[in-house]
Amino acid sequence: MTAAHPHDTELADRARRVIPGGVNSGQRSIPGLADLVITAADGARFTDSTGREYVDYHAAFGPPLLGHNDPDVTAAVAAAGRTLDLCGVGVTPGEIDLAEQLCELVPSLEQVLLTSTGSEATFHALRVARAATGRRLVVKFQGCYHGWHDSVSLNVISAPDRVGRHDPISTGILPEVLDATLVLPFNDIEAVRAAFTEHGADIAAVIVEPVPHNVGCLLPDTGFLQALRDETSRHGSVLVFDEVITGFRHALGGWQQLSGITPDLTTLGKAIANGYPVGALGGRADLMQLFSTTPGAPAFFAGTYNGHPAVVAAALATLRKLRTEPVHEHVFALGDRIRAGLTDVFAELNLPAVVTGYGSVFVSYLMSGPVPRTYADLLRNDVGMFIGYRRRLAEHGVFELPLNLKRSHVSYAHTADDADRLVEATRTAVRDTLAAGGIDQLAGTSTMGGADAHR
Ligand SMILES: Cc1ncc(COP(=O)(O)O)c(C=O)c1O
Repeated sequence: MTAAHPHDTELADRARRVIPGGVNSGQRSIPGLADLVITAADGARFTDSTGREYVDYHAAFGPPLLGHNDPDVTAAVAAAGRTLDLCGVGVTPGEIDLAEQLCELVPSLEQVLLTSTGSEATFHALRVARAATGRRLVVKFQGCYHGWHDSVSLNVISAPDRVGRHDPISTGILPEVLDATLVLPFNDIEAVRAAFTEHGADIAAVIVEPVPHNVGCLLPDTGFLQALRDETSRHGSVLVFDEVITGFRHALGGWQQLSGITPDLTTLGKAIANGYPVGALGGRADLMQLFSTTPGAPAFFAGTYNGHPAVVAAALATLRKLRTEPVHEHVFALGDRIRAGLTDVFAELNLPAVVTGYGSVFVSYLMSGPVPRTYADLLRNDVGMFIGYRRRLAEHGVFELPLNLKRSHVSYAHTADDADRLVEATRTAVRDTLAAGGIDQLAGTSTMGGADAHR
């Protein structure tokens, strides 16, 4: 950051002494913003320890669809705290109500289990798929992220020379586990068919973000998700839609409602509790019945904090608001307004850009068209410009995460004025970045991968 707005290095230094890297999740210590200490958040904004306020489009990677500290969600959590606590035996009325509503809303859900994170939900989806089929392999797609566990910790934001082969995002993964994951290009029906022709009898599951938002936004071609449905059904494999980002954000029934394609299992998280720690895994009852929540069933499933009353209260309050207020209309309209405004800005500045997204999600790739369909297309993104203008945006009090390919989110708390301010700030930030000739300090910003699994 500029000298005019120094971050609180003293606090950040204290953090680094006792917290590895000074933050509690990978991708929170951002080059250029390493001293950022957040002290308050409200609605569409957060404040740092120097008192500087930012309009927040990063939105914690997606949960606060209603905005930070939504008053109805906060009140529901406080009420739960006064009347109930985690007891770790039996079930609570709130868990029943939430499960009923999820099953009513999300087409694939006949039964559902709660976890505390999305990673746990995807982990259990793959475990139960292997348990049900007795098979070894899972298929994922380049550019999709499904959490931190070993079977899926590969091929997210890969360097060009790592595309087309295994690109782990972590060391310490058993090679046998990586070898059991096949990575295919998104939107490539032929690659999917070929994988099933070769390995069909050994594929337990295909897991996919129906819209790969972990690389911004790749919209699925008509027919791609249907091809996944057809191939998995034909070969007796389990189709998992990872709707941790798309669930509730794009529609109450998720992308499966919008696309009309129903997977066997669905994972949810993020927006379903507006920022409280939640995940959910649901789907076909015959698969869900394999979990050991049914005594004697074979697929072990547990979690001390699963179904925590505060989290369940947050999810129920979020759902109530999404069902009774024009949240989706609002965030979709603002998303359209931002995409239109940004498209004009890049055109005026003569900078090749593809402004894309869906509903409340937007991203501006700094590259010429057409709209990208698959990860390989995103290798054309001008990383220096992408990161460079976002770093300058932060100086204007507008926060889009300055990491390559990351998407941004609009919440119910953002206003049309906020959207217009983003567009104007982008105009200035891009112009200044162009004038400065881009940026060169990109270490740690452009890829997520490149680990050597065998170390
Ligand atoms: C699509 C998707 N699936 C799963 C996860 C993992 O969720 P969590 O970070 O809650 O473990 C994420 C997190 O970003 C995600 O984007």
